[in-house]
Parts: sequence; structure tokens; C-alpha cells
Amino acid sequence: MIALKSFDDENKTIETLVIPVCSNKEIHGDKQIIQLNKKAKTFPEFSGKKEEEITLYDLPKSVAKRVIFMGLGESGQLNGETLRAFCGKAIRRCMKDKFSTAAFAAPDSKKTGRATELILESMIQGACLGNDVFDVYQGKKDLSPLKNIDIMVSDKDVKPFAALAKKTEIVCQGTLLAREWINIPSNHKQPEKLAKMISKAASGKDLDVVTLNEKELKQENMNALLAVSEGSQSPPRMVVIKYRHEKAKKHAALIGKGVTFDSGGINLKPSGSIEDMKVDMSGAAATAAAMIAIATLKPKINVTAFMPLVENMPSGNATRPGDIIKSLSGKTVEILNTDAEGRLILIDAITYAEKKYAPDIMIDVATLTGACVVALGEKIAGLFSNDDALAAVIQAAGEKNNEPCWRMPLPDEYKELLKSECADIQNISSSRWGGAITAALFLSEFVETPRWAHIDIAGPASTKKCASYCGAGGTGFGVRLLCDSLEALV
Ligand code: BES
Ligand code: ZN
Ligand code: ZN
Repeated sequence: MIALKSFDDENKTIETLVIPVCSNKEIHGDKQIIQLNKKAKTFPEFSGKKEEEITLYDLPKSVAKRVIFMGLGESGQLNGETLRAFCGKAIRRCMKDKFSTAAFAAPDSKKTGRATELILESMIQGACLGNDVFDVYQGKKDLSPLKNIDIMVSDKDVKPFAALAKKTEIVCQGTLLAREWINIPSNHKQPEKLAKMISKAASGKDLDVVTLNEKELKQENMNALLAVSEGSQSPPRMVVIKYRHEKAKKHAALIGKGVTFDSGGINLKPSGSIEDMKVDMSGAAATAAAMIAIATLKPKINVTAFMPLVENMPSGNATRPGDIIKSLSGKTVEILNTDAEGRLILIDAITYAEKKYAPDIMIDVATLTGACVVALGEKIAGLFSNDDALAAVIQAAGEKNNEPCWRMPLPDEYKELLKSECADIQNISSSRWGGAITAALFLSEFVETPRWAHIDIAGPASTKKCASYCGAGGTGFGVRLLCDSLEALV
């Protein structure tokens, strides 16, 4: 639970107060905090420089029993991300010391020259996202999340920003849910199981959830999706989640790649690339978790989300390189590489969404290509779109939340690389270069929705190292991005 509080309405003593301090100037407005900061800076080991930290106990007339001062460096560098990182780091520190509550002093808008909205939203994001441990499969539980986190603001800001605080917490809980699903190993999240986890999480919300089983997917002729799942003992599913708003003027479809394990299929991945492939359902996780958040946020737009869930495995039944299938769209696809499976499940989900709902806007999110990671690294997603305004909305949401999306081109000229000798299209490019682009172009050949965006999150969906507000594993990248984008698209 995260709440905004002021020192005035806090009558009981705070156990732990964390204060961010800048080295060059005072960034707080509260008199008591200013006094505390002065005291901390009398110690030579603390001047507010980055990474510096000092804890003082039982200060006379202090509002808190224990005050942790954390250096942020120069105030000029203060922005959303430094505040997010500060809160995430502070939460981790509190968890290590087994605190169950903490209060954070929010810097003052006038003193910092940053909007209160930005300060509070970023602090809540960092605290909420940092307050998370994935230890389900570990006997020894070292850390546990804090039960209560308060952000201390001036009395006049408590009420006006309460709704923002609630909203931010809901979206961040979505991110945590997506992370949890991504971190579950593939032997515990086969398509059927994952579909159940998603439906369960979505139940009791203002959402309609339907899961298509293998028989229904066959009846619908989703042969591209089925081809990917052929080699697996675990049958495929497709989860469809509907959110409706009575004042909606637009309908957006979200599509999330849900490969619960990507072995590569008959084109088996080598060691080094295969062991992380439980994260290949990160697009589906982000999409489903975003839907759960928007059921509470209630933006004035209709949204239907499609999560095709499959496991890509080699076996005697598996699809072979060279096989040709007829996708739901009617177009035939020559599957030259069974490791380019994401695009196959996505095209059937795209066509299904269009046939059933004819949306105005479509956004797909997928850990689609290693080539996108080569191009943009592990922190930045590739953004492809046929619509400049839609791309701008997504980019802006990305910047605001530090889920950066870099626009990439969709050149017509490269479409010929997907020409097949014997089918309507082939699933890999005939050139080894520009793989993120040719994958996006492959999808574009099946998209009829006027405004479409594809977000390749192969890089930022997961992280090897624990950072300030995200542990190692799934990052939940895309949840905040989608929630903010949908709110801007009404
Ligand atoms: N799931 C992978 C992409 C991926 C790579 C996700 C790294 C997360 C981290 C995707 O299905 C894949 O295997 N793509 C191939 C495409 C190739 C065969 C054209 C790739 O990127 O190598
Ligand atoms: Zn693959
Ligand atoms: Zn994949």
C-alpha cells in the first residue's frame, strides 16, 4: 500500500524516514526536513553526493525514529528516472534491514523546478516497482516486501494528488504481475496453465475473459498459430480479454506474443540463446497485465486484447523447415525457419482480431527478434508503425515512464526479401541483415487495421542484473507504456 501523507496529519511517529538530499542545494520545502538535512551535512562523510548515505537515530524533536539520508548528487540532474531509482534503491535497503514500513520525503516542486506530478508519480513508481521479490522457488526467503509505504508531501498536496497516487500504484501492480508471470519457469506455465493464471487474475474485474482451446483454434483455422504449437505436448490457447467503456469512440486491439518456451523448434536454438527463452511470453504478460490495470483506470476507449499462447518445441510432430501452411488470413506461408515462430502466432491473432472486431487501432507487443537487440541494445524497444500520430503517442508514453521506444522504418523496398518461391510469403528474410525490420514487415503484410504499431521488446523484456527498481528477470516492460498510450488515444 502506497499513500500520500503530510507530517501534519501523521500523529504517530514514523519508524523510518528516507530523505533524498542533493549536494549543491536544498530541494525540500518542509522546515523540519531542512533542519534534518542541515544536521546530516554536519557529518563529513555526508554531503549529498551520489551514492552517499547516512542514518541518524533518535534526533531531538525529529518526526522519525530513524532517518536515512541518501545522496542524489547535483540538483540539476534531478528527473523522473533519478527519483524512481532513488526510491527503488531505498526500498531495497529497507527490505534488507527487514523494515515493514517506510516514509519518503518528496522534494519540493518550487525548489527543484520539477512538476509535483512528475516528482510524485516517479517516486511512487520507483517505490512500488522496487518493493518486489521473486522467491517462489527458493527455500530461503531473504527479503520480503514492505507492507506500507508513505510518500510525505506538503499538506496542500495530499488531496489533489491522491488520485494520481492510486492510479500509479495500480499500473505498477500491473507491471509486477507481468514480471511474476515472466519469471515463472516454462515447466510451470504451459499455455493452458498460463491461460488459467491470466483468467484468474482478470476475474472479478470489469473485464470479459474468454479462452479458446485447441479445438476452437482449429475450428477458426488458425493454422499459423497451430503450426508453431505442433511439436509440443502442451496444447495451445488464445486468451481474449475485453474491456468496454460506454463513452468510447474508438476501439483498440492489443496483441501480445505468448511463447511460453521458445526452443526454436526443429531449428533448435544453441546453448547461450535457449536458456532464457521462458521470457518469450513477455508481450502476452504485458498485454494481459495492462488490461487488468485499465479495468480499474477506466479510460474512455474500448480495448480487446489477444494473447496467443504456445510452446515452440521440436519433436516428431513438429513443423519442419520448408513446410507450408495456410494462415487464417488465407495467405500461405512457407516456414523456412521454425525459430521465427512469434510472427506466425501473431499474424493469426491479428487476423482474428480484425475479423471479429475490426478495431481502429492495433498495437502488438512481442519479444520478436534478436536483431532488434543487436540494433538497440537491451534497454530500448523497437517501434514500427504505419501511423505517425500513434507512434508519437507511444514514444511519449515511453519517455515518461523510462520504457524507451525507438522508431524504426518499414521500407517497402525490403518486402521483396520475404518473397517465397512456392507460397504467398516466407517467414524469414532471404537476407541476414535488418532482421527486426523484416519481421515487422512480415507482420505488416497481414495487418489491415488503419493505425497499427508493433513494439519489439526482445531487449528490454528482461534483464540479467538487478537494478534500482527491478530485480533480475522479467521487467514488465510495456505495461506502463500501454496504459499511458491507451489513455492518450481516447
Ligand atoms: N524469441 C526469439 C527472439 C528473442 C531473442 C527474444 C532474444 C528474446 C531475446 C524469436 O522467436 C527468434 O528466435 N527470432 C529469431 C528470428 C530468426 C530465426 C529470423 C532471431 O531473432 O534469431
Ligand atoms: Zn524463435
Ligand atoms: Zn520467440
